[in-house]
Amino acid sequence: MFRSERILITGASRGLGRSFARLLGHKELKNSLCLLARDIHLLKEEFGDHELIPVDLTDSVLLEKLARDKLITFSPTVVILNAGGGSFGPFIASTIESSRQTILLNMTANVLLIQILLPHMIRYAHEQHKRSKILVVSSHAAFLRVPNFALYASSKTFLNQFVCTLMMEHRQDPVDFACFCPGAMKSEFQGRSGIPQMLSRAENTDSMALFALKHFRRNAVMIPKMIDRLYQIASVVLPRFLLDSLLIKIQIYYMNKQKRSFTSQI
Ligand SMILES: NC(=O)c1ccc[n+]([C@@H]2O[C@H](COP(=O)([O-])OP(=O)(O)OC[C@H]3O[C@@H](n4cnc5c(N)ncnc54)[C@H](OP(=O)(O)O)[C@@H]3O)[C@@H](O)[C@H]2O)c1
Repeated sequence: MFRSERILITGASRGLGRSFARLLGHKELKNSLCLLARDIHLLKEEFGDHELIPVDLTDSVLLEKLARDKLITFSPTVVILNAGGGSFGPFIASTIESSRQTILLNMTANVLLIQILLPHMIRYAHEQHKRSKILVVSSHAAFLRVPNFALYASSKTFLNQFVCTLMMEHRQDPVDFACFCPGAMKSEFQGRSGIPQMLSRAENTDSMALFALKHFRRNAVMIPKMIDRLYQIASVVLPRFLLDSLLIKIQIYYMNKQKRSFTSQI
């Protein structure tokens, strides 16, 4: 489905984004990928045959210029908005700077890229009698209120709402939106964000990327794990106080478990 497309991927230097790039970067199709991340060395190690763009996505002014000058010229037919992050801990203890970074990375950068690229993707699809695709990587956290991860979870809720609303606005256009909501994955994300070991077993990013590409379909919210589908249903049908108190109990249990295993190691 994704062969002979021009594919733009954000956050392609590691984790899920790198798994997408590995699956989609065919040797015989040079320059079919346009990969964005801050660490250009990591990108070069694996994807030297493709267009590599070192950029800090939280720099909105630079990102807008880059999108208008370079990304439109690349003219992607598939866009995978994968880069994301956040810091685990009580909101009151976080810094203004870390909150700003989370908002700029998880929300502003994605909105800006869609806003600039979408008209071109629609026009190109019309001209070529094809369909363009936008896959946005969200999270299972989008369905829940997650204490100690308030801004991250809320930013993913925003992404889901935003993308699902665009699906409605563009139902007549030749563009397919999908929102991918994985649960915990084995990547540097967990260490970088400082999240404790949580309820679900962490999946590997290659299998999650494969799932997203295989199940990509128009206007889909893809939730790979059954437990996360249950959370999503629970978030709609359960009274709010029940789900919230359940989540707090689960989080306290896992934080205590992590503390116990840490103290037993010292
Ligand atoms: N891992 C999980 O448990 C999990 C669960 C649910 C959803 N997700 C979502 O899945 C997506 C991918 O996460 P992951 O686990 O693959 O994370 P990861 O291993 O930390 O990789 C994040 C990627 O985003 C890039 N990135 C981060 N900040 C950036 C910035 N300011 N500018 C440009 N690029 C930036 C990183 O590249 P550089 O460092 O080179 O810039 C890296 O390539 C995220 O949207 C995350 O929210 C992850």
